[in-house]
Amino acid sequence: MAIKSIDELCNGLLEKREKVNMGGGEKAVAKQKEKGKLTARERIDLLLDEGSFVEIDEYVEHRCHNFGMETKKFPGDGVVTGWGTVEGRKVYVFSQDFTVLGGSLGEMHAKKICKVMDLALQNGAPVVGINDSGGARIQEAVDSLNGYGEIFYKNTLASGVVPQISVIVGPTAGGAVYSPALTDYIFMVDKTGIMHITGPAVIKAVTGEEVTSEELGGAKTHNSKSGNAHFFANDEAECFKQVRDVLGFLPSNNMCDAPIKETSDSPNRMDMDLRNVVPTNPNKAYDVRDVISRIVDDGRFVEVQPMWATNMVIGYGSFGGQPVGIVANQANKMAGCLDIDNSDKASRFIRHCDAFNLPIVTLIDVPGYLPGKSQEWGGIIRHGAKLLYAYSEATVPLVSVVLRKAYGGAYLGMCAKSLGADTVLAWPQAQIAVMGAEGAANIIFRKEISGAEDQQAMRQKKIDEYEEAFANPYQAASRGLVDKVILPEETRQEVILALRSNGTKRQALPRKKHGVMPH
Ligand code: HXC
Repeated sequence: MAIKSIDELCNGLLEKREKVNMGGGEKAVAKQKEKGKLTARERIDLLLDEGSFVEIDEYVEHRCHNFGMETKKFPGDGVVTGWGTVEGRKVYVFSQDFTVLGGSLGEMHAKKICKVMDLALQNGAPVVGINDSGGARIQEAVDSLNGYGEIFYKNTLASGVVPQISVIVGPTAGGAVYSPALTDYIFMVDKTGIMHITGPAVIKAVTGEEVTSEELGGAKTHNSKSGNAHFFANDEAECFKQVRDVLGFLPSNNMCDAPIKETSDSPNRMDMDLRNVVPTNPNKAYDVRDVISRIVDDGRFVEVQPMWATNMVIGYGSFGGQPVGIVANQANKMAGCLDIDNSDKASRFIRHCDAFNLPIVTLIDVPGYLPGKSQEWGGIIRHGAKLLYAYSEATVPLVSVVLRKAYGGAYLGMCAKSLGADTVLAWPQAQIAVMGAEGAANIIFRKEISGAEDQQAMRQKKIDEYEEAFANPYQAASRGLVDKVILPEETRQEVILALRSNGTKRQALPRKKHGVMPH
């Protein structure tokens, strides 16, 4: 063989590089665009800081010889992998390329994904997976199944160690959905992002039900019906902006603190409107996001799962620059009661915050648990227990603010002192009691009421008596279960002080392999 000159060798490399960037070729890219989708590389560019992407494994190819696959080789094997930065911090990324064999996952494609996951874990940096794939590469059979298994295994090991984010910008079908489901968050793009275990055709054959792919597993469905997804975006640009926003609140790994957010918002800012945002009448509704936006830095709140289990609001904000997770009852949806779905939603978020060293600020206005057969038979006992479990095992600083109602077990479930709250603040209209005054009076004064000449007047008298005695924050404060009763306008200042006071908190749990969380 003739020995090549260095220029020939370098030109050979440059040609290879060009080929790598072409993905599945012009035709396939045009087809991708027709579907309203970006290419794997364009997506990485939207995610990362400009020019920061460093690719690895671009010459990896599959080793399959079945069904003529030996003639269908593409450098990179249908997934672009590497690392770059988001707001200057390192992030590992894989982006499936649908233009190459439908982004399907075979042995080598999986190995590339596993390599970036290993690097992310080893280097303590988040990993973002961009999913656009026909699923297991059918020609590679058991090798592709095994590849998925390895990814699931690594997802599980990385859980709680580095943030893992899944972006769904194309089909994600069959068992392939389980890698996203094992990560912290699923972001979906409307119309193009699809996730389901069994598709419309199989469903029709097995159950006779007719449903479109979009209706079955589109972004709206998973954001509002199933609760599988956490963020909904109208297009890919909006989606990657959301991913960057969320990464901006998270530490790179569980051993470090979240990055302090720059703010010029004074920690002493008071907002007198807070006196009017929450009505003192416990039966009147309001939007708790109007409280949140008035107390966090610069009014900036990034809501997680805003379309599902909306009687609970969760998300990120910062206080005096310190990123926190916020959990709040939403009074204008089913009075902010606890139920199966919102217990699941909040408890998972609490564990996520605890894993990644984010203090949790809980805003409480809760009338109790949603009554009904569907809740009881659906397992509200075990679902509600998750909330107790998540707060009790959390060792990050926990600051609770009782805005209004705090009744019974639901109050405990929203991080009362006994569940580990480090600082409990309460507004003057807070009512911390076993139940509302009316229900309480009807039970404990039943005899007096039924024996009275004017039952209605007696009932009202007893309600008033009960209200006077218990429907306030001072009973709880007299026992140290509320640390401080504050004016609504002092909330921002007091939360910041509480976060500072508890910022050096160190708490050890009993030694164990792991607990057995209710499911
Ligand atoms: C190999 C695949 C493929 C796959 C698509 N392609 N999916 N090749 N394995 N799983 C190829 C197609 O043959 C085609 O190749 C190219 O990718 C583009 O696909 P199209 O069908 O033209 O695209 P589109 O019309 O947009 O349809 C997309 C699709 C469809 C809905 C995803 O391709 C499809 O239904 N694919 C099969 C999906 C599937 O059943 N996957 C297995 C799921 S089970 P050419 O050469 O024609 O361009 C699974 C198990 C995981 O994933 C288990 C984990 C535990």
